[in-house]
Amino acid sequence: MTVKALGYLAIGSTRPDDWAGFATDRLGLQAVDRGGKMRAFRMDDRRQRLMVDGALPDGSTVFGWEVADAAALDTLGAKLDDARVAVKRGSAAAAARRCVAGLISFADPAGNPLEAFHGGAVATDPFKPGRDIGGFRCGALGMGHVLLAAPRIDTVWAFYRDLLGFRISDYTAAPVKAYFTHVNPRHHSLALVEAPHRVMHHLLLELYSLDDVGRGYDMALADGRVAVTLGRHGNDRMTSFYQRTPSPFYVEYGWGGLDVDDATWKPQELKSVRSFWGHRGLFESLGDGPPPPEMPVMPPWPEARAPLNVIEGNYSRLAGVCPWWDTLAARR
Ligand SMILES: [Fe+2]
Repeated sequence: MTVKALGYLAIGSTRPDDWAGFATDRLGLQAVDRGGKMRAFRMDDRRQRLMVDGALPDGSTVFGWEVADAAALDTLGAKLDDARVAVKRGSAAAAARRCVAGLISFADPAGNPLEAFHGGAVATDPFKPGRDIGGFRCGALGMGHVLLAAPRIDTVWAFYRDLLGFRISDYTAAPVKAYFTHVNPRHHSLALVEAPHRVMHHLLLELYSLDDVGRGYDMALADGRVAVTLGRHGNDRMTSFYQRTPSPFYVEYGWGGLDVDDATWKPQELKSVRSFWGHRGLFESLGDGPPPPEMPVMPPWPEARAPLNVIEGNYSRLAGVCPWWDTLAARR
């Protein structure tokens, strides 16, 4: 187990002001004053999670993967050296720019720029969301997940699995090849999808409250930014929608994602990548048009429904037990 979480995402954009407004007023991130050409945003107690970095080329993305400590970072650097991956040890200035204690830079086989780091700085003041939300589910789970599309993803997946310690959650072989992979209990921190060109499709941000997702959906509808309608995924059980951002990738805004436990989790091939409901536009957003005709439809009960994933204090149990429901639930 090498990588522990998706710690941060740095993006290059010629529209930093648009990003500042979108990140705070719409997503609910907290703007942090970093000065210069850096726009940084908080999601939790970390000093920054999302960065619009003026030093990066427009449209570029750098993924910051967190490891436990300086020794783990050294071990990873040596492992990459042995595998003949070009690794650049980050300077003190580079680490300060990311608000971390140390970092290295390299790239995956698809060409995605990566950084591995340890010692993410923690803020001294509490997180203050940019709009009225109950907060983001991140902390040790990291800031969310990313979906990267690329050619020859078997090679890309082998890199993340063998060198960075990612584990498989589930996968599809046909008609779309995809790997959903985890580094902590979050069902996936990285999804890889086979596609003709390398592209970052989306960043997921998970909220504590379904109502905060719903209000975000109302605002995105009013803004005309909805790319994929509200729906619920069948594998990570996330209720979410996807919205356009000032950059050429989407933000998935969701609630109720599944946790996996390596001690009991059994990776499986998905029978369908269709959602339980909704998510209209998802296949079109991947650039593949409507679902191919051979795509299996969502199977009937019990696979077409699943319990909600809630955290302590975020639900009220209904009174009463229904024998009919118990019969159905027992079939799962
Ligand atoms: Fe996602």
